[in-house]
Amino acid sequence: MAQKSKILIIGATGYIGKFVAEASTKEGHPTFILTRESTIKHPEKSKLLNNFKTLGAKLVIGDLYHHESLVKAIKEVDVVISTVGGESVADQVKLIAAIKEAGNVKRFIPSEFGTDVDHVNAVEPAKSTFKGKAYIRRAVEAAGIPHTFIACNGFAGYFLPTVGQMDTYTAPREKITILGDGTPKVVFVKEEEIALTTIKTVDDPRTLDKALIFRPPGNTLSFNEIVSIWESKIGKTLERTYVSEEQLLKNIKEAPFGLSIVLSIMHSVLVNGSATNFEIEPSFGVEASELYPDIKYTTIDEYLTQIA
Ligand SMILES: NC(=O)c1ccc[n+]([C@@H]2O[C@H](COP(=O)([O-])OP(=O)(O)OC[C@H]3O[C@@H](n4cnc5c(N)ncnc54)[C@H](OP(=O)(O)O)[C@@H]3O)[C@@H](O)[C@H]2O)c1
Repeated sequence: MAQKSKILIIGATGYIGKFVAEASTKEGHPTFILTRESTIKHPEKSKLLNNFKTLGAKLVIGDLYHHESLVKAIKEVDVVISTVGGESVADQVKLIAAIKEAGNVKRFIPSEFGTDVDHVNAVEPAKSTFKGKAYIRRAVEAAGIPHTFIACNGFAGYFLPTVGQMDTYTAPREKITILGDGTPKVVFVKEEEIALTTIKTVDDPRTLDKALIFRPPGNTLSFNEIVSIWESKIGKTLERTYVSEEQLLKNIKEAPFGLSIVLSIMHSVLVNGSATNFEIEPSFGVEASELYPDIKYTTIDEYLTQIA
């Protein structure tokens, strides 16, 4: 069997990055984790890094903003996966420059892990975030770097534990607020399964220079359907309050930045239906669950059973 690609992960101590790093080691890829000196000294993050080391990963000191450290680390591997956070997304141009200089990368997966940014329809401030990711797509293509763009749609762990409620840490048992009319199909996938799919794809010629878009049927439902499933799990009918698009747009404008970014992403997904309102054409994309029937995607129904 062909040797598994060596993978460098930048952002392994982040929310989605920790799942990706774990999947990489568990799938048997020689795994390198680029981390900053300050992160190694961080009490919680150092535990995470030690766990990766136990799983066989090698730590490399570096920084997105330190060119030589990137080039040196990239030269050791075949594949680069970036899971840097939203605020650093546009700065991945620095990573692109380093990959170009190193000249050896067979696949680059930039930090996206959300809605397909070439098909999204959003208002500010989400619009600018998506634009930043699309800008990185164009820069990767212009540099001629072999790539896959991961459009996994929503992280299940961000939305399902509260059934989309933002003012609570628990799932609702009396009342529920639905943004928009609750009809567009949305997609939520468990983080572990997003990570496993990301790792499976690095050596897969079918996703070379394509967007890998996640729409497993059991994970693709309308907000109204998700609420009905939740009601069936708790054996109770919830009092539903619908927030009109007009009201939501007003809330986005008036909210502080942190909240307005979340609300505007929700608007693009839950009201505009950006996760599902386009056909996946073979010219630009492939659907993850069709490509990897062996991966068991935990359905929204199964997820809600577990938290009921
Ligand atoms: N689909 C969804 O529902 C969803 C939800 C949230 C996020 N996302 C997307 O997922 C991607 C990752 O976001 P996240 O929330 O997982 O990120 P995060 O938790 O903020 O983690 C960012 C990672 O990047 C590292 N990093 C930051 N600056 C760095 C630098 N200068 N050099 C090297 N490493 C650096 C951080 O290291 P330290 O640990 O040292 O800080 C951390 O490991 C983003 O594209 C984001 O938009 C999607």
